[in-house]
Amino acid sequence: MLNLMQKGSMEERKTYIVANWKMNFTMEESNLFLHKLAQKIAPAKGLEIILAPSIFTLQSLSLQVDYKQFRLAAQNFYYKDFGAYTGEVAIAQLRGIAEYGLVGHSERRHIFGETVEDTGHKTAAAIRSKVTPILCIGETMEERANGETNDVIYDQLVGGLSGVTSSHIRHVLIAYEPVWAISTGGGGTVSAVCSPDDLLDTIKVIRSHIKHLYGAKVSKDIRVLFGGSVNAENIKSYLQVDGVDGALVGGASLNVESFSNIIRKTKEIRQEKK
Ligand code: PGA
Repeated sequence: MLNLMQKGSMEERKTYIVANWKMNFTMEESNLFLHKLAQKIAPAKGLEIILAPSIFTLQSLSLQVDYKQFRLAAQNFYYKDFGAYTGEVAIAQLRGIAEYGLVGHSERRHIFGETVEDTGHKTAAAIRSKVTPILCIGETMEERANGETNDVIYDQLVGGLSGVTSSHIRHVLIAYEPVWAISTGGGGTVSAVCSPDDLLDTIKVIRSHIKHLYGAKVSKDIRVLFGGSVNAENIKSYLQVDGVDGALVGGASLNVESFSNIIRKTKEIRQEKK
């Protein structure tokens, strides 16, 4: 598992683009997608492209993927290492296949009832298995309307990071995904758009909570991604926001053309920022 921060301080700061395919694609479609994407995307220094396919295709993709081009992530996993947990997959079983694991995606929290405590166990399990957790946090529309964003984010950070010591925090990525800005069903109706200004405000909140929990250096160094209807048209505006290190892409990652355009725009903005 990479020590993200040390690596970042020795080299230039990386940008992370994660494709969250959710419950889409058959095995054949996943293989074909990887094949087509691989032909379109040249590896770029400082850019980490992470594919999060359905769990059953992870192994097949892991045998085909060129790790100079792409990394793999689990969308979900259970936090016990092994045992009598019918139907579950342990992150320990995915070691060597997935380098990253999503934790606490809003669909897990809101559709499957994943609790803040569960996210804490999962983040700790990922670290134990040397898989980099990507802790997803974000408020609902109602919580935002009630002025609870700050508190919700704080609780999700405290709970999700409960088992993470100050030495292990270096291995964690945070993804801010306001639930109200996530497109439903991968390209369906979007509730609202998160503007770059909205994003900046919440990124500041996240980093200030991290400062409170782990200190000023960690708060500056920790990688924070944004997710919520990111596409090739808006990616640059989000990556320009101070303190944003990448994106978690759902709907727009399901099409080779649109996802490779996102990568192309990300490379451009990295060049522009130099
Ligand atoms: P979206 O999904 O890009 O379709 O909004 C993002 C996510 O849910 O991770």
